[in-house]
Amino acid sequence: MDGQTLRHVAIIMDGNGRWAGLRGLPRLAGHRQGAAAVQRVVSHCREAGLRYLTLFAFSTENWGRPALEVQGLMELLVRFLAEQEPELRGSSIELAAIGDLDRLPARARRPLDRAVASTRGATGMRLTLALSYGGHDEIVRASRRLAGLVAEGKLRPHDIDGAAFARALDTADTPPVDLLIRTGGERRLSNFLLWQAAYAELRFTDRLWPDFAPDDLDDAVAWFHDRRRTFGLVEAVG
Ligand code: FPP
Repeated sequence: MDGQTLRHVAIIMDGNGRWAGLRGLPRLAGHRQGAAAVQRVVSHCREAGLRYLTLFAFSTENWGRPALEVQGLMELLVRFLAEQEPELRGSSIELAAIGDLDRLPARARRPLDRAVASTRGATGMRLTLALSYGGHDEIVRASRRLAGLVAEGKLRPHDIDGAAFARALDTADTPPVDLLIRTGGERRLSNFLLWQAAYAELRFTDRLWPDFAPDDLDDAVAWFHDRRRTFGLVEAVG
């Protein structure tokens, strides 16, 4: 992967429920296979030299799913963290999390905080999990942070520009998204990284997330390198 032009890939991992439904299995079986796909894709991105990978694992809206499904997803997260923490450390992957993390149950939040702390500073790749995440919610929380600084006299309203706003987001030290992939056939952003994906190339695939393989990622990357990115200018940039 070209580190100059493709730094940040973000993925909306959609289609777990349908994958399970097609096989007459409960939705959680689809999420379990989805978690296995996460492991494959993370290793592949690391091996390919990608710097930033952000995965939409749980949205603010997902709290409204049946309690058993929410509970199952939290258990999968706990298991993922327990299994993957040593792998992440061994592969020099820094784990980060974005979203309204205070809504996570303590049994998920504790191992998440531990894994984030134990991988901090790793320079191979940053894997960011979006958990209890919504783009609107993130922008509202950032606005509150900035308003708080203004109220404390630490920031003048005039100094709030694009860069200051970006720094107030959960993704403060992560570059903008270059390539955004959505699996599962729908063609929408679903409130994911609304600010950060302003100039992202959007790649939609019908593949259901549990079936998404390293080859599919390579196809998306090859497609990305064929795009002409102008960022609103006349000439291609990057
Ligand atoms: C969307 O599929 C997927 C989710 C809501 C959860 C994503 C979770 C995983 C991939 C597994 C757990 C992740 C980690 C990091 C451990 P859907 O349920 O909306 O599918 P559907 O549209 O077919 O119903």
